[in-house]
Amino acid sequence: MKHTDKYPMSMIVLHSLVALAMIGALLIGWNLSPELMPIHKALGIAVLIFAVLRIANRFRVASHVPASVNSKGSMQYILEKSVHGLLYITMIGAPLFGWLLSNAHGYPANFFGLFSLPTLIAKDPSITHTLKELHELCANVFFCLLILHVAGGVVHLLKEKKNVFKRMMPF
Ligand code: HEM
Ligand code: HEM
Repeated sequence: MKHTDKYPMSMIVLHSLVALAMIGALLIGWNLSPELMPIHKALGIAVLIFAVLRIANRFRVASHVPASVNSKGSMQYILEKSVHGLLYITMIGAPLFGWLLSNAHGYPANFFGLFSLPTLIAKDPSITHTLKELHELCANVFFCLLILHVAGGVVHLLKEKKNVFKRMMPF
């Protein structure tokens, strides 16, 4: 397969939606204030919803996903697939722990006052510290993966003159 082969449009759109919402949630998380908390939660809930749709869609279009530009079994291939797998885990893990953390604090996971996700656990101050640590861990791991993820694309561009970014762009 050529390196110019594109991802299906449904994957491109969901990749952008998750990426924008999750980078937004991360930037706000780093600068959190009581006024920003509703926006942080809403972006995070959007990540969770888009990520679930994205993973379901990934299975639906599995046979149309272009082959990796890295050769199967190579070091880069294993690195690429590991980073992608861990990104999928953090795009579920980060918002899920945020949701549980809010519930443990005694608040619902509310989306701009429009709706709330179901309350999964009762208010419990004894577990907020652990949930906060897990939430933060997911966010930090996500940030490291994002750097590796984008760096991978840049490496292909510089070393092999392959523009893999075009594969995931709508135009
Ligand atoms: C992709 C999604 C998300 C990312 C990357 C993210 C990232 C972060 C970061 C970096 C912090 C600051 C770290 C800290 O001081 O603990 C934070 C704090 C927080 N986040 Fe998120 N978050 C996400 C989703 C959510 C969601 C969906 C909720 C709840 C519905 C949520 C609720 C909270 C709360 C309550 C805090 C304050 C923690 C505390 O000080 O107790 N987050 N988040
Ligand atoms: C500005 C930032 C980003 C850029 C430029 C970017 C670019 C790309 C590109 C070019 C690909 C296709 C790789 C290939 O050619 O095979 C890709 C795939 C992927 N991206 Fe990103 N991405 C970004 C942000 C993100 C974020 C924030 C996440 C996770 C929340 C993410 C998760 C993924 C995953 C999981 C795949 C693999 C898709 C699959 O085959 O299942 N990306 N990205």
